[in-house]
Amino acid sequence: HGTSRINDIGHLEIGGVDTVELAKQYGTPLFVYDVSLIREKANAFKVAFKDLGVKSQVAYASKAFSCVAMVQLANELDLSLDVVSGGELYTAMIAGFPMERVHFHGNNKSPEEIDMAVRANIGCFVVDNFYELELLKQAAIRHERKVSILLRTTPGVEAHTHDYITTGQEDSKFGFDLLSGQVDRAIEWALDCEQLELLGIHCHIGSQIFETTGFVMAVEKLYTYIESWSNSLNFDLKVLNLGGGFGIRYIEGDEPLPVGDYVKATIEAVQHHVNKFNLSMPEIWIEPGRSLVGDAGTTLYTLGSQKDIPNVRHYLSVDGGMTDNLRPALYQAQYEGILANRANDQVETKYSIAGKCCESGDMLIWDLPLPKANHKDLLAVFCTGAYGYSMANNYNRIPRPSVVFVEDGDAQLVVERETYEDLVRFDLPLNTKEKV
Ligand code: LLP
Repeated sequence: HGTSRINDIGHLEIGGVDTVELAKQYGTPLFVYDVSLIREKANAFKVAFKDLGVKSQVAYASKAFSCVAMVQLANELDLSLDVVSGGELYTAMIAGFPMERVHFHGNNKSPEEIDMAVRANIGCFVVDNFYELELLKQAAIRHERKVSILLRTTPGVEAHTHDYITTGQEDSKFGFDLLSGQVDRAIEWALDCEQLELLGIHCHIGSQIFETTGFVMAVEKLYTYIESWSNSLNFDLKVLNLGGGFGIRYIEGDEPLPVGDYVKATIEAVQHHVNKFNLSMPEIWIEPGRSLVGDAGTTLYTLGSQKDIPNVRHYLSVDGGMTDNLRPALYQAQYEGILANRANDQVETKYSIAGKCCESGDMLIWDLPLPKANHKDLLAVFCTGAYGYSMANNYNRIPRPSVVFVEDGDAQLVVERETYEDLVRFDLPLNTKEKV
């Protein structure tokens, strides 16, 4: 997919760059991002909205993968940016991202984070709870600013791939509850507050979703309320933010829709309700993370030790694991991979790909068909671009990998590999002063 192909000497090539060369130059494990694929995905969202003639903002959910270069790319692609912490906001600031296109999420933004974002004049807060409303009001008064907000609601529709759970009162830590009237109270509160400009409502129904049904259900549910707020609270919705969650193909059998299909179905549902209730059409905002960067990322590993348990399993270890990809251990997520240096070789054996962490659960892929593999071969694991590097960690004091962007035959290092010095940077020596 994307610009990935196998070149004349049987090597996996991405963005016109030979992955074997990349591994040589930058070491492994290495995250390689196919930049043109990210451009393509961003464009698909843009085109979908444009075709339907609906005002929109597509905010990249930077939790999926944030670093200065990625945020700069998001800016270049004219995306807005969803941040969920002071750290992600700081990254956006350092990247020179226009603050008016930043949306700040989170169920427990600290007073310091709120202050930082109000001072930076970000575009919008997605307010999660009453505590935050109060903190925002105070910060707005202190900095003499008017602050734009959306209210995050839990519409009681939860989608996960093909499964939908509908509950009256969704049991979630996020957002204002619809059924019990929390949203109504929050709207009243916000409309009353001089410092706040209430733009609209937000919901996010889940992640890695393969169908449009959940989004349509959420729109339906929300509109029964939106209509009543229009009548009883005189609240005119300017923005409806429907979150992210558009699925990608990790393995054979995953069948996500083209991004335009999600957008189209959702907007048609909104238009239907707007007409039905004689309301005005809001701007539609969305927050894709995974679907923008997920399949653009490939991780390269060098193979090391093997363990063959006759008639049981063949283990093959890589020089990374749950430290650079926590998803298999955390969610039983599945991936596909190939030998990047011998991509044309005949597939012979099933190998189970083990990470190097001291933990039995540190397995990346079970029973992956590969050619006969040796240590020093290069394994490419696909679709690691979302929630891979961003959830990387230093378990077992393993340094985090580096990240390169590739496009049109060029490679650019965008995140350096951590060093052992980095790992002990915050450690302080034991105080050896004699105790009395
Ligand atoms: N908006 C909100 C409010 C969210 O909570 C999320 C993801 C997104 C947008 C972006 O969702 P996406 O388009 O990436 O599905 N670590 C998990 C995924 C956690 C998603 C959290 N929220 C994983 O690796 O599957």
